[in-house]
Amino acid sequence: MSKVDWPALRKAAVEVMHRAYAPYSKFPVGAAGLVDDGRVVVGCNVENAAYGVVLCAECGMVSQLHATGGGRFVAMACVDADGHPLLPCGRCRQLLWENGGPKMLVDSKDGPLTMAELLPRAFGVEDLEAIAHEH
Ligand code: THU
Repeated sequence: MSKVDWPALRKAAVEVMHRAYAPYSKFPVGAAGLVDDGRVVVGCNVENAAYGVVLCAECGMVSQLHATGGGRFVAMACVDADGHPLLPCGRCRQLLWENGGPKMLVDSKDGPLTMAELLPRAFGVEDLEAIAHEH
């Protein structure tokens, strides 16, 4: 899959942003990811009265990836309430790394960035495997 339809991905992110449950921060977020089989999966942030329990939009998107058949992310767009691109928080970068890898593209105001740029020298499954092979 070589071409990413960024406008379609942003539109899907804006649509799901309107379903966010963000009564505490009042900062709704929507995320839409293109999967390597052409599927688009989405997620919105879901907050909680226990503030620290918040689920980011990207968490929901990753859950939908697996719930609808798995695969690998090729690209993702994440938007705020104005539809402007948002870069994922640190925890979500780790989730995206596991499910998309270094070449996954992430929308930004400066154009697509790779996960390798967003999470350089990442910890990943290879680190677990390296230890497993020693024992
Ligand atoms: N949030 C996301 O959903 N994704 C991000 O990448 C950044 C932050 C949410 C969490 C919280 O509900 C709100 O934005 C304010 O931090």
